[in-house]
Amino acid sequence: MSSMSLLKTIAGALAGLALAFQSQGAAAQDYPSRPITLIVPFAAGGPTDVISRIVGEHMSRTLGQQIVIENIVGAGGTTASTKAKNATNDGYTLITGHMGTHAASVALYPNLAYNPSTDFEPISILAGTPVVILGKKDFEPKDLKEFVTYVKGNADKLNMAHAGVGSVSHVTCLLLNSILGVDPVQVPFNGTGPAMNALVGGQVDYMCDQIVNVVPQINGGTIKGYAVGTAERNPALPNLPTAKEGGLPDFEAQAWNALFAPKGTPKPALDKLNAAVVKALDDETVRKRLLELGSVIPTKEQRTPQELASLVKKETERWSKVIKSAPQPK
Ligand code: MLT
Repeated sequence: MSSMSLLKTIAGALAGLALAFQSQGAAAQDYPSRPITLIVPFAAGGPTDVISRIVGEHMSRTLGQQIVIENIVGAGGTTASTKAKNATNDGYTLITGHMGTHAASVALYPNLAYNPSTDFEPISILAGTPVVILGKKDFEPKDLKEFVTYVKGNADKLNMAHAGVGSVSHVTCLLLNSILGVDPVQVPFNGTGPAMNALVGGQVDYMCDQIVNVVPQINGGTIKGYAVGTAERNPALPNLPTAKEGGLPDFEAQAWNALFAPKGTPKPALDKLNAAVVKALDDETVRKRLLELGSVIPTKEQRTPQELASLVKKETERWSKVIKSAPQPK
């Protein structure tokens, strides 16, 4: 090959590279230039869906593109999380993961098809969600003390609802059952939206659920609330005692929901998404809606990808211990 044609080849390649960088730069600048899909790993109407819609709606105004919610259910949220891991990492597919899908599931699914720490880009925590121990409306126990005695004495006749193995409602009630030393029949649903309907209908006896899904029902008297798993009472349910007040100090359960993108999503897109979350969580209307439902809004310092990455690690360790000490499934 003559030196002239070699030079031409190199020049052509460099021009191509420059063009690629240019279009990448342009793409980054234009991001987002079309609607963004936000995968919710549980049925519509449940806590993860409600939080995703409240924050997503405000983000779409900031980003100037619609955020389209896609509910994908199954296997305690791990089906959707696997789909999100394998999605194109161009910034147009995101997932709302939580303490179950992006921490506790590691210990419950030996062949989990994703690693929450390495297969996703953390964007930000969206909301902390204290967990409440619940019973159907005509459940016999009137307070947590009676709940403990009653469940211990009747566990073989009771059933407990949850949103699938590895979900928040599953692992937090595994913690409760561990503390009580019971192993009732478990009834899985595609989310605590449908599980709540079964509890209100009296088809199931008790459940643990994120407060966001509970406040309207407890205030409406359609279910019984026994305790919240946080150190302090929740301002949205001031009459609901803490588990510690009720005599169950080991039931410490606060979940969280957070935004993730597939690994390798471009940094400029991640930065814009994080900024849009930060702005949404400062918005008065968004805050009012989240606080009314008992959510805990992360502080500014807690709304960073680094904070979320360390939370995922910490919580994976914590819930792995809880799961290992829980009664093994029959
Ligand atoms: C839901 O949105 O249904 C919940 O997050 C499910 C769960 O993890 O309990």
